Amino acid sequence: MNILILGSGGREHALAWAVKQNPKCDRLIVAPGNAGIAAIAECATLDILDGAAVVAFCEENAVDFVIVGPEAPLAAGVADAARAAGLLTFGPSAEAARLEASKAFTKEICDAYGAPTAAWARFTEAAPARDYIRRQGAPIVVKADGLAAGKGVIVAMTVEEALAAVDDMFGGEFGQAGAEVVIEEFMAGEEASFFILSDGETALPIGTAQDHKRAGDGDTGPNTGGMGAYSPAPVLTEALQRQAMEEIVLPTIREMARRGTPYRGVLYAGLMIADGRARLVEYNCRFGDPECQVLMMRLGAQALDLMLACAEGRLEGARVNWAEDHALTVVMAARGYPGAYAKGSAIRGLEALAGDSRHMVFHAGTRLEGGEVTANGGRVLNVTARAETLAAARGEAYAMVDRIDWPEGFCRRDIGWRAL
Ligand code: AMP
Ligand code: GLY
Repeated sequence: MNILILGSGGREHALAWAVKQNPKCDRLIVAPGNAGIAAIAECATLDILDGAAVVAFCEENAVDFVIVGPEAPLAAGVADAARAAGLLTFGPSAEAARLEASKAFTKEICDAYGAPTAAWARFTEAAPARDYIRRQGAPIVVKADGLAAGKGVIVAMTVEEALAAVDDMFGGEFGQAGAEVVIEEFMAGEEASFFILSDGETALPIGTAQDHKRAGDGDTGPNTGGMGAYSPAPVLTEALQRQAMEEIVLPTIREMARRGTPYRGVLYAGLMIADGRARLVEYNCRFGDPECQVLMMRLGAQALDLMLACAEGRLEGARVNWAEDHALTVVMAARGYPGAYAKGSAIRGLEALAGDSRHMVFHAGTRLEGGEVTANGGRVLNVTARAETLAAARGEAYAMVDRIDWPEGFCRRDIGWRAL
């Protein structure tokens, strides 16, 4: 079959890499793709936020299956447009993607069945939000309701910081995303990510992961999109996964179906673990980036069969064939990230790192310039390895990092420390 993947990051490179290994895949197109993706798939120029354009492209290119990577096209209704045109599609409708696109919506869904999550309140004006913060005290969490590219969450350690966040949000710092503000109880604990496929009725867990959000070693420095990840997450024990399925995920799937907006796609549950119990931090309506890279490394070709079963409503009876393995990815970023950074520096040594089923350098933000791979973003490479133990996977990933010649880049040296 002919398959189109929408997106251009490390997540989409990993999806393309896994899909490509499956003999069902004939032609693979990624739009817009990047320099790494171009080595294994056709890259196409396409406005991926424009549902009509995506549908027209699929018709012209006889695409049989569309996989939507990032949240923005999902929130913009691209999966709806594709399904309406009769295309087999992996990714939730815009209504269902509100589980990521609106924090208050997710909280309403949680309240509908008493899911364990932080206590919360919503505000459309600053004065009552400020009063609420003063009454609750710190630490406290202030969130722009809408999509803010991962930047709309302030975990405030003091009341002053929380008040400033409220003023920023209502002052327009996050545009329309901050027109409504959600204020939450601060939850202490250890975070982990839980990935579940849902076809609207049946939910199938497909793995756990943990990422490292801070830029610096020892989880210090500014927040980022993620500096590395590993799977599985040992903190998410079988018992905790069962509890999260029963108390959080399955009721969400049922509630979305009951509302007439069934959830079809991958549901990414961000969980906080404390006192032997998981509580929901947030949902995302897509694979995590870089969590997807470690999941794909472990799933390999069966990822396509699972996504097809999900899109075709056949998850009942589908199963994941797990190897007892571990995968770890190290993000190499441009110096300065997540602040200002330069683009265009050359990255050398990649040719010597031929990928195999246990080693891959996924490209997150690269471009081909005059035959050379250059940095074209903040997070640039995801150096990924799989092995029998997490320690071995980490050793292999850093051995690859050390062979990459890119003086303008940096990475954390301690990915996986929490689990090792
Ligand atoms: P979100 O975009 O909702 O995932 O929030 C980003 C990050 O903020 C999460 O990964 C957590 O580290 C943190 N966070 C969000 N909500 C809370 C909360 N209620 N308590 C503690 N930390 C939180
Ligand atoms: N790595 C976090 C995310 O994809 O949201």
